[in-house]
Amino acid sequence: MVKAVVAGASGGIGQPLSLLLKACPLVDELALYDVVNTPGVAADLSHISTPATVTGYLPENGEGLKKAFTGADIVVIPAGIPRKPGMTRDDLFKINAGIVKGLIEGIAQHCPKAFVLIISNPVNSTVPIAAEVLKRAGVFDPKKLFGVTTLDVVRAETFVAGITGERTPSKLTIPVIGGHSGQTIVPLFSQAQPAVNIPADKYDALVNRVQFGGDEVVKAKDGAGSATLSMAYAGFRFAEKVLKAASGEKGIVEPSYVYLPGVSGGDTIAKATGNDFFSVPIELGPSGAEKAIDVVSKANEQEKKLLEVAYKDLQGNIQKGIDFVHNPP
Ligand code: NAI
Repeated sequence: MVKAVVAGASGGIGQPLSLLLKACPLVDELALYDVVNTPGVAADLSHISTPATVTGYLPENGEGLKKAFTGADIVVIPAGIPRKPGMTRDDLFKINAGIVKGLIEGIAQHCPKAFVLIISNPVNSTVPIAAEVLKRAGVFDPKKLFGVTTLDVVRAETFVAGITGERTPSKLTIPVIGGHSGQTIVPLFSQAQPAVNIPADKYDALVNRVQFGGDEVVKAKDGAGSATLSMAYAGFRFAEKVLKAASGEKGIVEPSYVYLPGVSGGDTIAKATGNDFFSVPIELGPSGAEKAIDVVSKANEQEKKLLEVAYKDLQGNIQKGIDFVHNPP
C-alpha cells in the first residue's frame, strides 16, 4: 500500500499534481494538506473512479498535519508563494523558507522514512533547509531527499526537439544539472541521448531559454504566478519514477538536486563542483537515490564555462539555506 501526500495541495501546482497522483495506479492513498481549501479539492478528486482513496486536511493546530503525514511513503511539497514578474526565485526565500522548514519538521515527526520531493522555491536553498532540519531531528536519509528539477529537464527536451524536429520530445534524454534557478541550471547537450546537433548560432539562445524558461511563463501569466501545469507534469513524472523504482523497477534515472556526499558516487562529484547539494542524473532504486552519475567530468569546454558560473551562485544559495536553520532571522 502506497500513501502519497501533497503539501500545498490547493495551489496552482498542488491541484493538477494531486489530480495526476489520483490517476496513478501506483498510489493507494492520497492525502492532501494545505492551509486552505483541501476539503473541497479532496471531495472533488474523490469522485474520480480510480482506486486511490483521497482525504483532505487543514492545519487544525497540528492535528491535520499529523493525520495527513502519518504513514506517508512519499511527500511532495509545492507549498509556498510563486514568483510575480520581476522577481527571482531567491526573492521567495523569506516566506518559503519558513513554510518548508515547518513542513519538514512535520515529516521528521510523523513520517521520517518517507521520500521527500521539494518543489517549493528557491529549491537551491529549500533542499539544504530540509536536510538541516532532518539532520537536527536525527532522521536525515540523503537517499530520500530530492529537489525537483525535472521541469528544467522537460523544458530542455521540448526546446531541443523544437530545433531538431524530434516529434516526441520525451524520447530525448538530456542531462540538466546544477541547481534550479537561472545560471545555476546547466544543460549538457553534448551528452544527449540520442545525440543531438545544436547549430552553433543557436546554442547560446537555447541555453538561455532552458535557464530562464520559467520567466517566459511568469511574464505571460502577468502577475498570476509561475509555471503550474508544466510543473505538475514534471513533479508527477519525478514522483512516478521514485515510486516505480521503490517497487523494484530497474534502470530508472532522472536528474535531481540531492545531498551528494550521502549518495553512492556523489562524493567525487561534490568535490569536483565544490557543492554538496547539486543536481546530477540519479539512478533510483528501492531505497531512493542509489547512485549519482558523473556527467560533470565529461562536460565539454562550453559547458565547463557554464558550470563555473553555476558553482559560485549555488554556494551562496546553499549557505543561505543552512544559515536559516542554524541562525534563524
Ligand atoms: P500557489 O500560491 O498557487 O500555491 C501554493 C499553495 O501552498 C497554496 O495553496 C497555499 O495555501 C499553500 N501553502 C502556503 N503555506 C502553506 C503551509 N504552511 N502548508 C501547506 N500549504 C501551504 O503557488 P504555486 O504556483 O503552486 O507554486 C508553489 C511553489 O512551487 C512556489 O514556491 C513556486 O516558486 C514553486 N515552483 C517550483 C518549480 C520547480 O521547478 N521546482 C516550478 C514552478 C513553481
